[in-house]
Amino acid sequence: MQTDSSFTFVLFGGTGDLSMRKILPALFEAHRAGGMLADSGKIVAVARHVADRSEYLQWVNEHVKPHVSKNGVDEAAWASFLTRIEFAKIDLGNPDDFVLLRDAVKDLPGIRVFYLATGPSLFVPICRALASVGLNENARIVLEKPLGYDLKSSNAINDAVGEIFAEEQIYRIDHYLGKEPVQNLLALRFGNALFEPLWRREWVESIQITIAEELGVEARGDFYDNTGALRDMVQNHLLQLLSIVAMEPPHSMDSDSVRDEKLRVLRALKPINPLDIGKVAVRGQYHSGVIRGNAVPAYATEPGVKQNSTTETFVALKVEIENWRWAGVPFFLRTGKRLADRVAEIVVNFRPVPHSALGASALRAGANRLVIRLQPNETIRLYCLAKQPGEGMNLASVHLDLAFDQFFREGQMEAYQRLLLDVINGRLALFVRRDEQEAAWRWVEPILNEWKASNKPPKPYASGTWGPAAASAMLAQHGTCWLEEEN
Ligand code: BG6
Repeated sequence: MQTDSSFTFVLFGGTGDLSMRKILPALFEAHRAGGMLADSGKIVAVARHVADRSEYLQWVNEHVKPHVSKNGVDEAAWASFLTRIEFAKIDLGNPDDFVLLRDAVKDLPGIRVFYLATGPSLFVPICRALASVGLNENARIVLEKPLGYDLKSSNAINDAVGEIFAEEQIYRIDHYLGKEPVQNLLALRFGNALFEPLWRREWVESIQITIAEELGVEARGDFYDNTGALRDMVQNHLLQLLSIVAMEPPHSMDSDSVRDEKLRVLRALKPINPLDIGKVAVRGQYHSGVIRGNAVPAYATEPGVKQNSTTETFVALKVEIENWRWAGVPFFLRTGKRLADRVAEIVVNFRPVPHSALGASALRAGANRLVIRLQPNETIRLYCLAKQPGEGMNLASVHLDLAFDQFFREGQMEAYQRLLLDVINGRLALFVRRDEQEAAWRWVEPILNEWKASNKPPKPYASGTWGPAAASAMLAQHGTCWLEEEN
């Protein structure tokens, strides 16, 4: 991907965790690869507690370098990357400092990108301060999740930012949309004639989408305790994956065609009836347990977590889509921390054949199933039935595997790298549009409200398991179970 789009990339929260782990390493990778970033492009890091550029570069060397390039750092590329970095000492609470920022970027080249890697409470003050010195004109703004806490607070941020930046200037990040396998899902569905005719209620019995993590809340107990898994993972990543799995074929891959189709899915989600919540939603919280041989503590004892917290670290949901293609097909979503394995995957369970001439063993062997493993080890696995060798007609379930790293040995790109390049090059398709975000909040809010009103604690589960038993019971009612295979 060659580019001549020059840019000035202003990074608010320049010494934050996200800048350290994701944003600066992704920019470095794009720089190292060559040809992806215009030579003249600059990065202006904004921070308050750093004296000047040389102190900032020292911080970058100490904190960012360990996060780049798994196979060792290319020292020459690293040294030339540092020459792209400028620094602005700005106190975000002081609007006058933005005059300094304007002066710092005045003569820098290309399109201006303002990346807000800060808490959401700073989004609106920063946008207003940028506008006060005219820096919003012809610029792009990148907003990190969480964007608000519920529909009302997300609307308040979007309204205020929308007074300063037009929708085409706003890039709302959901990093799952930048993952290679999620892109591949579009390729699988819309580049192959094979799957699309079967991708509907007549042939699909149920769909599962899982994002399971082994990690706990790490150092983010305080943030997480006010957020919970429904806001942290379902409202954004899981509903985005669901909308890509279920959307109609877009007429092209331009940003609004894709986003229009995703929006139609989000708007077609069957609203959750508060009286049914016990049947279609399970929430859990991890207790202590063992993961890969190591004892791990309970959520309740993690630093930053309030005493007797009822925040959920696990959610499982049964979701229905009220449209012609999917009516009656259950979509089961689940996500959780401290589960038995780190895995993100989509499982499409097809219906059994309408009549089996092959006898009882065919029925016992099960039906076709397509498993799209997003991480780790991106794979697509298609389960089929085959005759077991030997006498008689005994069928067994076998699988066809497509392991991406065997076909494509090079060229993999981290989500943040792809998304940052898209911002610099003005491609909006992989960013969440305001109406999508609103539709997602509108759908999750009754669940949040009901959980709050009921005041019941989440169901406990031991760390290192697959969550509360109720999540399995929910699927058992539909005659199915979660697919839990070894990695
Ligand atoms: C983030 C959540 O958006 O996604 C985290 O805030 C979560 O809680 C992370 O751990 C998971 O992302 P990934 O790419 O590691 O699956």
